[in-house]
Amino acid sequence: MPTLAEMKRTGEAIVMVTAYDHPSARIVEEAGVDVVLVGDSGAMTVLGYPSTVEVGLEEMLMMAKAVRRGLSRPLLVGDLPFGSYEVSNEQAVSTAIRFIKEAGCDAVKLEGGGPNSQRRAEAMINAGIPVMGHVGLTPQTAAARGGLRAQGRTAEAAERIGREAQALTAVGCFALIFEAIPAAVTAILMPMIEIPVIGIGAGGATDGQVLVFHDLLGLGEGPRARFVKQYADLHSPMVDGVGSFAREVRERGYPQHHHEYGIAPTELTALQQRLNGPDAADR
Ligand code: KIV
Repeated sequence: MPTLAEMKRTGEAIVMVTAYDHPSARIVEEAGVDVVLVGDSGAMTVLGYPSTVEVGLEEMLMMAKAVRRGLSRPLLVGDLPFGSYEVSNEQAVSTAIRFIKEAGCDAVKLEGGGPNSQRRAEAMINAGIPVMGHVGLTPQTAAARGGLRAQGRTAEAAERIGREAQALTAVGCFALIFEAIPAAVTAILMPMIEIPVIGIGAGGATDGQVLVFHDLLGLGEGPRARFVKQYADLHSPMVDGVGSFAREVRERGYPQHHHEYGIAPTELTALQQRLNGPDAADR
């Protein structure tokens, strides 16, 4: 966390990517990212739910544990799923403790910058848990704001995002996510924010950028948000690979001799004798 603060101070861009399992954790670590988020976006990207709202705490913890086993250097942040922190400060603290203690996360992230989120963030920070805030588009409560759409497009709404960011800073958050905010609004708000701000669809003025693993690698299906840049198309090669396996199995082209295990001829003869009686090999 001090490293992120230092990166903000020196202007070095912070790179954050989501991961949901051991292989994705290994890949993002090898690629040299600074921060890994076990995002509740995993609800959609790996668990197949229609939104992030459905994912449960146990499912998030399972993903976070798998990521932890694959990660050593980057900061690991666990996303608090909908319904696991809103009810009370006690609920938020006990959920966050599970992310730290059971899953080995370094920090947690909660959505929203209103009074409720501020109280929950403060309670977790007072319990010794580092907290990342998340303002702008907050998918867990997007339905109440008219769906998955950019936020802060009026002066009033943009000011509210700035005030929420300042309030989360004041209660002690170590960093913030700015999601789906007009780039010009971000540029105006950035000088007001003292902690690192990592953007997703918030323009280039933030201290860093985050993308969802499946989006940037072309592993997702369906329409993509405007801010997604796809850096690779892994879906087609994966379909091709599995398709080739299926074709070779059906054509009896796989497995070949070099894929097989051997056995000594004497053992083979002995096996035949054991299965068919002592005279079987001579018959
Ligand atoms: O769940 C997630 O992937 C996120 C990022 C979009 C920041 O919250």
